[in-house]
Amino acid sequence: MDLLLRGGRVIDTSGESVLDVAADVSIRDGRVVDIGRGLAAPSHGRVIDVADLLVCPGLVDLHVHFREPGHEYKEDIASGSASAACGGFTTVCCMPNTVPVNDCRSVTELIVQRARQVAAVNVYPIGAISRGLQGRELAEMAEMRDAGIVAVSDDGRPVMNAGLMRRALEYARTFDLPLVQHAEDLELAEAGVMNEGEVATRIGLRGQPAQAESVMVARDLELVEWTGARYHVAHVSSSRSVDLVRDAKRRGLPVSCEVTPHHFTLTDDACADYDTNTKVMPPLRTSRDVAAIKEAMAEGVIDCIATDHAPHSDVEKEVEFDCAAPGMLGLETAIPLTLELVRERVIDLVRAIRMLTSAPAALFGLDARGAGTLRGGAPADLCVVDVNRRFSIDRENMQSRSRNTPFHGRDAQGICVLTMRGGQVIHDVDGRSR
Ligand code: DOR
Repeated sequence: MDLLLRGGRVIDTSGESVLDVAADVSIRDGRVVDIGRGLAAPSHGRVIDVADLLVCPGLVDLHVHFREPGHEYKEDIASGSASAACGGFTTVCCMPNTVPVNDCRSVTELIVQRARQVAAVNVYPIGAISRGLQGRELAEMAEMRDAGIVAVSDDGRPVMNAGLMRRALEYARTFDLPLVQHAEDLELAEAGVMNEGEVATRIGLRGQPAQAESVMVARDLELVEWTGARYHVAHVSSSRSVDLVRDAKRRGLPVSCEVTPHHFTLTDDACADYDTNTKVMPPLRTSRDVAAIKEAMAEGVIDCIATDHAPHSDVEKEVEFDCAAPGMLGLETAIPLTLELVRERVIDLVRAIRMLTSAPAALFGLDARGAGTLRGGAPADLCVVDVNRRFSIDRENMQSRSRNTPFHGRDAQGICVLTMRGGQVIHDVDGRSR
């Protein structure tokens, strides 16, 4: 069916120059055909009024945990992709720490196939770096690439062994796959359950120092310089790590990084009530770290926003802080939390959209598959946002199968009202498309 989105503010950062115009978007056969003022209504089709709303490419998340196969009671590909659609995302990359681990062709194939059958959004798997995420021998990168992975990572765990990391970077380079590191030196981290510092001391929890992250980033950058492989730091959280990435970029290394909404919004103060929903890895850091992260977002040192959507059930979360599984939901709160930064003038709206669409798409080569853009001919994957609407974040309204968010009850402003993938409406809060 043909569609015309009439009267929105359209932002697309995928081209050489940024498109930021009041315009209509015309869609035919699931693809964007034109963006302009006063476009004619389709003769066979529908007009959707998006006046006073923002229209941008569907958001792209390089870092989600859908728990299929293995832990579908927390999230499966269907519920995870429904959560993504609700949050405005049309493309997500899922981490390999499933059960079994995605470290070989058959698991990659299973995920690709399930996604094709049940997912409302585009789901691209990320393959493991090491077999079973054990950090001992390399996983079958070439086979997994042929089956559809778009990057490799042992996320949830670091690659501790520098020799294995060297080989992983060499292989990843050969197969032109970005390598995503969960930067955490486990010896320095000493099983700390939150950030090491004043709050941890006061509330009596074991902390892990910010250097557990930056030491690993520093080691890796040395190996990146040696091997020339593409290296991406997942969920960067500390000011020192950001400094290292900035310096590496100045030296021209093929380095990128992402930040999660929780790491730019919350500090370790949020852990003071022992809310296990604030337990994440890497841990929430100090206000100094958050300030450094915001500065790096404004500068462009941090390339993109990724949610690290990590569903866990009450069984893993309604326990002592020490014992709780780390992770929080992210897909359905990314837009309002990012818009807080826009209102604070940390970044402007165009940069926010770039960090959620074209920038992540380009990092994993997903732009070539039509993600993160509204250019003519691209699949009509898009998201319509009411940046002014106020609401209270409510975990009971979420599409995710899990409920582990520390943002429940937070006053928010800015919500995705309509998501479309390939011209099909996959989320519509107000029934605008009916
Ligand atoms: O908090 C986290 N949860 N950090 C990770 O790196 C893994 C994730 C998970 O899988 O739950």
